Amino acid sequence: MDLNFVKKLFPQKGIIGIDIGNYAVKTVSFIEEKKKIKLKDWGYILLDFPQGATAEEKQVFVSEEIKKYLRKRGIQFKFAAASISGNSVIVRYVKFPKLSKKELALTLHVEAEPFIPFDINDVNLTYWPLNDIMEEGQTKMEAVLVAAKKGVVDGKIDVLSGAGLDPTIIDVDAFALETLYSWLNPEVSDSAILFLNLGHKVTNLSIIARGATRVVRDIFIAGASFDKSISKSFKVELKAAGDLKKRKGVLLSVKDKETAIENYDKEALGMSKVSHAVLQDLYTEISRSIDFYLSQGVEQSISKIMLSGGMANLGNIGEYMSQKFNVPVEILNPLAPLAEQIKNIPKDILPALAVATGLALRKLRDWE
Ligand SMILES: Nc1ncnc2c1ncn2[C@@H]1O[C@H](COP(=O)(O)OP(=O)(O)OP(=O)(O)O)[C@@H](O)[C@H]1O
Ligand SMILES: [Mg+2]
Repeated sequence: MDLNFVKKLFPQKGIIGIDIGNYAVKTVSFIEEKKKIKLKDWGYILLDFPQGATAEEKQVFVSEEIKKYLRKRGIQFKFAAASISGNSVIVRYVKFPKLSKKELALTLHVEAEPFIPFDINDVNLTYWPLNDIMEEGQTKMEAVLVAAKKGVVDGKIDVLSGAGLDPTIIDVDAFALETLYSWLNPEVSDSAILFLNLGHKVTNLSIIARGATRVVRDIFIAGASFDKSISKSFKVELKAAGDLKKRKGVLLSVKDKETAIENYDKEALGMSKVSHAVLQDLYTEISRSIDFYLSQGVEQSISKIMLSGGMANLGNIGEYMSQKFNVPVEILNPLAPLAEQIKNIPKDILPALAVATGLALRKLRDWE
C-alpha cells in the first residue's frame, strides 16, 4: 500500500501554533488523546539575527531557525497557524448596511474603504459579522473588519513555507489571545478585561468584554524601548542593555527602592528611573485606548488586566499597572489547564507562549 497516498487522504490533523516575534519565535502544539488536550511540544527560539541582515535575509533566517528546531525536536506536524500584528494590520469595529453575504462580498471594498488608512488595493480584507442593530430606522450590521497589508500576510506565509510547513491559518495576535482566553475561561464573564501582550517591539492591547474582543490596538512601546533607554542612559550597546534589563528587572518596588538608596545602588536606581519614563509613556497610550473604549457607551469598565509576552514577568510592571489603573493585574499562564505537563517550562517563558498557544488551539475550535 502506498502510505504516502493514505497520508494525503488523511493528513495529520495536528497544527502547530507559531508566533514569529521580533525577538523570539514561540511554538506550541497539542495532541488530542481520548478527547483530552495534551501538550505535545513548546519552543522558545531566540532570534539572533546576523548583523546588518536585510528584511528578506531575516525571513530566510527565521525559516531556517524554525526548520532546525522542528528537526531537532522531531516534530512532524505539517500544518501551521501564525499571526500578524503591528502597523500593517488594522482591526476596526464598524457598522455596515445589512447586506447578504454575497452582496457584501461584492461591495466590501467600498464599504470598508473609509475605515482603512492604507490603499485599499494593497490589503487583504476580511470581516466577521457580530450582530444586527437598528440605527436611523435602518437595520445595520456590526462587524469586525480586519485589513492586513498584502506584503505582511505573504511574508508570514513565506516564512512558514520556507520552514517546510503548510500555512493553514494566518490570524491576528489579539484574536489568538481571545481564542486562548475562551479556552481558559469557558464561562463568558460579564466583565471587561484589558490584555497587554508585552513583546519586544510591540505591545498588543485588546479589550475583551463579555467574551468578545472590542478594541484592538498595537502600541510601539515594549521591551526594545527599555533597551534603547537603558543603552542611552548607561552608554552601553543595545544587547548589553537588554541583558542588564533582564538581570536587574526594570522598575524597583517602593521597598527595593529604599534599600537601593540606603546602599547607594546607582545602577538599580538609574535603571528604575529610565524604566519609569518608558512605563509612563506606555501608560499614557493604554489610557487613551481605555478612554476610547469607554467612550463607546459600554456597560463594563475594565475589571482586570492580563499581562502576557516576554516582558510580563519583568520587574514590577504588573504592580505599576495595577497601581496606575487601580485594578488587579494577573500574569497570564496560557497553559494553566495543563498544570501537570508544564512543570519544565520556566516561569518567565510561560506568558510569552500566550499567542502561540491561542494559535495552536485554533484547530480544536474551528479547523478540521
Ligand atoms: N527571561 C526572559 N526571557 C526572554 N525575554 C525576556 C525575558 N525577560 C524579559 N524579556 C524581554 O521580553 C522581550 C521579548 O518578548 P516576546 O518574546 O514576547 O517578544 P516578541 O514576540 O519576539 O516581540 P514582538 O511581539 O514585539 O515582535 C524582549 O524585549 C526581552 O528582552
Ligand atoms: Mg510578540
